[in-house]
Amino acid sequence: MNAPPRHTRIAGTGGYLPPQRLSNDDLVQRLAAKGIETSDEWIVERTGIRARHFAADGVNASDLALEACRRALDAAGRRADEIDLIVVATSTPDMMFPSTAAILQAKLGTHGGAAFDVQAVCSGFVYALTVADAMIRTGSATRALVVGSEVFSRILDFDDRTTCVLFGDGAGAVVLEASDTPGLLATELHADGRHAGILCVPGTVAGGRVLGDPLLKMDGQAVFKLAVHVLDEVARSVLVKAGRSADDVDWLIPHQANVRIMHSTAKRMKLPMERVVVTVADHGNTSAASIPLALDVAVRDGRIRRGDTLLLEGVGGGFTWGAVLLEF
Ligand code: UT7
Repeated sequence: MNAPPRHTRIAGTGGYLPPQRLSNDDLVQRLAAKGIETSDEWIVERTGIRARHFAADGVNASDLALEACRRALDAAGRRADEIDLIVVATSTPDMMFPSTAAILQAKLGTHGGAAFDVQAVCSGFVYALTVADAMIRTGSATRALVVGSEVFSRILDFDDRTTCVLFGDGAGAVVLEASDTPGLLATELHADGRHAGILCVPGTVAGGRVLGDPLLKMDGQAVFKLAVHVLDEVARSVLVKAGRSADDVDWLIPHQANVRIMHSTAKRMKLPMERVVVTVADHGNTSAASIPLALDVAVRDGRIRRGDTLLLEGVGGGFTWGAVLLEF
């Protein structure tokens, strides 16, 4: 009997943004029609966001995921029927059940492998990657599609200017496979449910009705403070776990929520911003999709090369956070 593989590596990446792009000015006009005041200047200065993409009515997380997965499979030179595990990180699933991963599997034209969703909001992709890595290394799977896909436009409150200007839709995916060489070097996940209330969609469905508020609520300042703190902590500990230092990191790929948080993380790690992948200006905050989308952008534009050391960091509702250090 073969021993389980000791390592996993990313064989290919893919990303997809729905075609409808809204600039800050487009949003300013849309909100002005409702008597709500905001400005391009405020959004850019406080967040770094200049535009976001929204999915058309009827386009779901599985549809965005499908496009990202096709591109990742293509980049890896693999077919969907060679995948025996699909993990989708999403907080905006197509339906309550079945999982978006199972729906995606059918859309990919394959069946039989494991498929499930991971719900860790903006940390979802690092959670999903960690789970898929463990399943491959223990021999439960051989080749996985790990996906972050979100349609946050569906859960935004367009009467709340403090949140609706921040988020966008999109999907990113990687093909993760067993490998003789690393690969993923170290992973680290955390949660602190005591802070559930600072970023949540508190509503649910019961007895055929929506109970509670089904739209996103966020205490931005509380999230900001906690994010800066835990991202610094988790970056240090995942590096220690892998026996590496910040000097070894070629590219930091943080969750894309706010460029000020990214500046703070880079500064604490003494990394120049030239080594941080920043896509928040064009994508907005796409929650679980933001890290794989940023990864794919920097792979396709040639910044990230094979052999580079990457630090992926997520933070979000739960409160959840985590990091993955890997050799690409
Ligand atoms: O993805 C999960 C992780 N999420 C995050 O990491 C988000 C973390 N938080 C943030 O990024 C920031 O806290 C925000 C971007 C959400 C807000 O930035 P801030 O610098 O913390 O602003 P603030 O909440 O302190 O608001 C400052 C002012 C307030 O007015 P007053 O009270 O000073 O008169 C707000 O009412 O800005 C006002 N404001 C706006 N003005 C124009 C809030 N939203 C807007 C807006 N347009 N869209």
